[in-house]
Amino acid sequence: MSHILIIGCGKLGAPLGVKLAQDGHQITGVKRTLLEQDTPEIDWIAVDITLPEQIGFLPTTVDAIIVILTPASRSPEGYQSIYQHGLERVLERYADAASKPWLLFVSATSVYGQQTGEWVDENSETSPSQYNGKSLLTAERRVLAFQPDSIIVRFSGIYGAARSRVIDKLRAPQIIQKYPPVYSNRIHQTDCIEVLYFLINEKLRQRPLDSIYLATDHDCAEKFEVMTWLANKAGLIVPTPSTAEESAPRNKRCSNHRLVQRGYQFRYRSYRQGYSAMLESSDRDAN
Ligand SMILES: NC(=O)c1ccc[n+]([C@@H]2O[C@H](COP(=O)([O-])OP(=O)(O)OC[C@H]3O[C@@H](n4cnc5c(N)ncnc54)[C@H](OP(=O)(O)O)[C@@H]3O)[C@@H](O)[C@H]2O)c1
Repeated sequence: MSHILIIGCGKLGAPLGVKLAQDGHQITGVKRTLLEQDTPEIDWIAVDITLPEQIGFLPTTVDAIIVILTPASRSPEGYQSIYQHGLERVLERYADAASKPWLLFVSATSVYGQQTGEWVDENSETSPSQYNGKSLLTAERRVLAFQPDSIIVRFSGIYGAARSRVIDKLRAPQIIQKYPPVYSNRIHQTDCIEVLYFLINEKLRQRPLDSIYLATDHDCAEKFEVMTWLANKAGLIVPTPSTAEESAPRNKRCSNHRLVQRGYQFRYRSYRQGYSAMLESSDRDAN
């Protein structure tokens, strides 16, 4: 059995840690603030990885490190603080370990700068124009340079459970570009946890893996179509279509081909299934 350190043990990390602990692994979960309701299957430690004086509280030897961090602020400083400075301190801690741990680093599809609706996969060019994509790409490269035997998982937009940002938007009138179409890429939170669990298990069983996996559902759809369907389904305000110039940004379309070829089966293949389940469970909670 392995000793697995989860740095950033929140909405994805905590349920992932419980599943791995139930398989018999020793799980150490790291976050800044511990709570009374934290699950007992995980050995919790309070460490802020951006503070050098706290890094010494991390265990001295581990087999694997899963990094699932969210920046404190959506700003260049917020990203730099954890994905460059914080990550570097963690890597320094394990640089001289007798057996260097492998990492699984959670990244995002913001590492792609494509904006003309083209399909992207793990072999596509990564030239992000925004600070968030640049910071994540630098972190990905740093992780792979530290331990080439590591895995990068690039999630598209996460929804599900308590993540209601998209639904909340539809409580007010929205104007959404219908032509030329803007694409949106999503993955349900349950699939995020299951993808990480799947890849970690493949790795622990020493099955051959690629370095990078793009994790997004099967249904890269037009944003106007998704928002219209969701508004109708949830009884919210149906968006108004707009038309833009032919050269307007259209986002990219993300392919999950590599992950699916590797054997992962999505619980929620499309936003229709994922949001239907999410709306049904919030109806149940309200009753
Ligand atoms: N949201 C999206 O649509 C989207 C899309 C693509 C990729 N992603 C990525 O997917 C992941 C989402 O994870 P999640 O939902 O589990 O996020 P989450 O619930 O916000 O968990 C992040 C964890 O990191 C901990 N943390 C933050 N700063 C820390 C620090 N300096 N030192 C130690 N721990 C720290 C937080 O706990 P404390 O606050 O107690 O420290 C929390 O437990 C993130 O890696 C995100 O970048 C998200």
